[in-house]
Amino acid sequence: MSDTPNLSTKNLLGIRGLTRDDIDLIHATAKEFKDVLNRPIKKVPSLRDLTVANLFFENSTRTRLSFELAEKRLSADVVNFSAAGSSVKKGETLVDTVNNILAMKVDMVVMRHPHPGAHQFLASKIDVPIVNAGDGTHEHPTQALLDTFSLRQNLGDDLVGKNIAIVGDIQHSRVALSNILALKLLGANVRVCGPHTLIPRHLSQLGVEVSHDLDETIRWADSLNMLRIQLERQGDTDAVRFFPSLREYTMNYGLTLPRLAQADKALIIMHPGPINRGVEISSEVADSKHAIILDQVENGVAVRMAVLYLLAQGRG
Ligand code: NCD
Repeated sequence: MSDTPNLSTKNLLGIRGLTRDDIDLIHATAKEFKDVLNRPIKKVPSLRDLTVANLFFENSTRTRLSFELAEKRLSADVVNFSAAGSSVKKGETLVDTVNNILAMKVDMVVMRHPHPGAHQFLASKIDVPIVNAGDGTHEHPTQALLDTFSLRQNLGDDLVGKNIAIVGDIQHSRVALSNILALKLLGANVRVCGPHTLIPRHLSQLGVEVSHDLDETIRWADSLNMLRIQLERQGDTDAVRFFPSLREYTMNYGLTLPRLAQADKALIIMHPGPINRGVEISSEVADSKHAIILDQVENGVAVRMAVLYLLAQGRG
């Protein structure tokens, strides 16, 4: 893959900032890496001379593992940092923390941070490519790239005219905004569905439909992306503050098999994980043939390999 064209950007800070061509290039590259991952030897030497630092200032399971695997499959050297137990607790600033890590000759940074815009800020201070692995409630670009990649694998490459609904806690979800932006770039019809209190008012300005009716949305959609209620981002750790109770939420917006049966087409069900079984999605749906949740996880490694590989190619 040595003559691959470059991305239009030096960092992956968000889907905002990417072009349609960037997404197509990432997806085409990911397809090649997916083939590599299905071979007995799942490794290529592309990033052999590079060191990547994974900086996680917020909890993560699949995203952190997925990035680490992607880096190792590309033969990069990998260092991991998580805020718990680090000097961040001793009052060090983000820029100082990162500059200290870069002084150890790190070539790329993958970062998850609870503050929206932390990556943008860091990008103005340091010179190595930065990949946003989630910034608070703002963006999660690699999740949207792997979601749209998975959709294209299931619905065909051309998403123009396809109806894609994102259901649940849109307000506190970084997956929602990144997915909306990516799906619009790819020409899909996008709808968000959830209670009034979990859908930001400005959303229709992004050219998405808004619905509060899951049953009607099921009949409209070719695919549903089910989101978790992000209690930890709602300001009060365990309390439900945006609707009367979790039980009522599930009655109105939980996806169950009988509900799905209303659609006389094969709907594709996605979920970025972690799943709350019995809340936004029933176990029967999560484990059904409609769900591509584990395919998304599998595709995530290939998509992240593509992003890291292309950003490494574009380094000055
Ligand atoms: C998402 C996240 O962290 O934003 N998960 C993920 O990255 N796979 C969604 C979520 O936490 O619900």
